[in-house]
Amino acid sequence: MPDGRFKALVLRHPGETIEASIETLSDDDLPDGDVLIRVHYSDMGYKDGLAITGAGHRQLVQSFPFVPGVDFAGVVELSDTTRFKPGDEVIVTGWGVGERHWGGYAEKARVRSEWLVPVPGGMTMRQAMTYGSAGLSAMLCVNALERYGIAAGSGILVTGATGRVGSIAVMLLHRLGYRVIGSTSRANEEKDYLRALGADEAIAAKDIGGLPAQPLLPERWVGTIDNVGGATLANALAGTAYGGAIAALGLVGGVDLETTVLPFIKRGIALLGVDSEKCPNEKRIAAWQRLAEILPQGLPDDVIEEIGLEALPARAEAIMRGQVRGRTLVAL
Ligand SMILES: NC(=O)c1ccc[n+]([C@@H]2O[C@H](COP(=O)([O-])OP(=O)(O)OC[C@H]3O[C@@H](n4cnc5c(N)ncnc54)[C@H](OP(=O)(O)O)[C@@H]3O)[C@@H](O)[C@H]2O)c1
Repeated sequence: MPDGRFKALVLRHPGETIEASIETLSDDDLPDGDVLIRVHYSDMGYKDGLAITGAGHRQLVQSFPFVPGVDFAGVVELSDTTRFKPGDEVIVTGWGVGERHWGGYAEKARVRSEWLVPVPGGMTMRQAMTYGSAGLSAMLCVNALERYGIAAGSGILVTGATGRVGSIAVMLLHRLGYRVIGSTSRANEEKDYLRALGADEAIAAKDIGGLPAQPLLPERWVGTIDNVGGATLANALAGTAYGGAIAALGLVGGVDLETTVLPFIKRGIALLGVDSEKCPNEKRIAAWQRLAEILPQGLPDDVIEEIGLEALPARAEAIMRGQVRGRTLVAL
């Protein structure tokens, strides 16, 4: 489009509801920042569904008009910093992008250069966005377990294993030689899918979904990547072997953690918190590079649905109704 004009999904909040429509904007409409990016790909997760529909327990976006899209990859068009130059391919995830700062559901975005990660060598922008922030989060969890000393060959439980983060965590752990136990609430239907990702075993989420009978149970795994929280996390702790560790990043099953000090002081277990939103840039650059080395090919096409801007509002409704399986890739 000429004259610096471009298309964007814009949220407006005229009354009680949030309205989402495709608008034509110009570079001058974009928020402040020192790098202007031509966006090529974005993706879609629960937070994006929340932003577009305004549904859920809290309104994610507080200021309007607003362009959502928490993850994106694109090419630098203009740069006021020496750290990036026009033509550089970059990834943006976290830092409130798509929540407080305009995001990736637009052909252009202007952001702060300190939020940018170069697209790692050996990976395309499209491949990077099949992973998005879920891939970064999964990689950070694996790195945290490894840093604690959990070695390849150990049994690792991944809770919420069919989800965005969980499925990539299963793939990474498998490639690195861990024995992967995936938990899912649909163990019968999803067993084959988890096996195809690389899980050695699929267990039913309900087996670890209630509070454990005791704070220490027979040892079942050495590490856990936990997307669920609540009673599931308490159960994961109770079943962790001596010297093991849990990388905790999710809360789909609740924010409470009912446990005792016993797993920590009797078995020397570590609870490692993982955050990809404000993770320091050096750590995230290294994590993206490692993700590209272990799984350079991106997610397979059969788990991806590629859509354009115009399909986003309906897709957001479907995500909020829990009707979306697999990954949504947004091409701009
Ligand atoms: N800390 C961070 O930086 C960070 C970064 C990314 C994500 N997260 C958090 O990590 C979690 C996972 O994110 P995601 O993008 O992978 O989510 P997702 O795609 O929705 O996957 C979550 C999975 O958990 C399972 N699940 C859903 N509700 C559940 C419940 N009530 N109890 C037990 N299992 C349940 C589902 O799998 P089954 O149907 O197979 O059981 C679902 O596929 C979320 O809480 C997200 O907010 C945190």
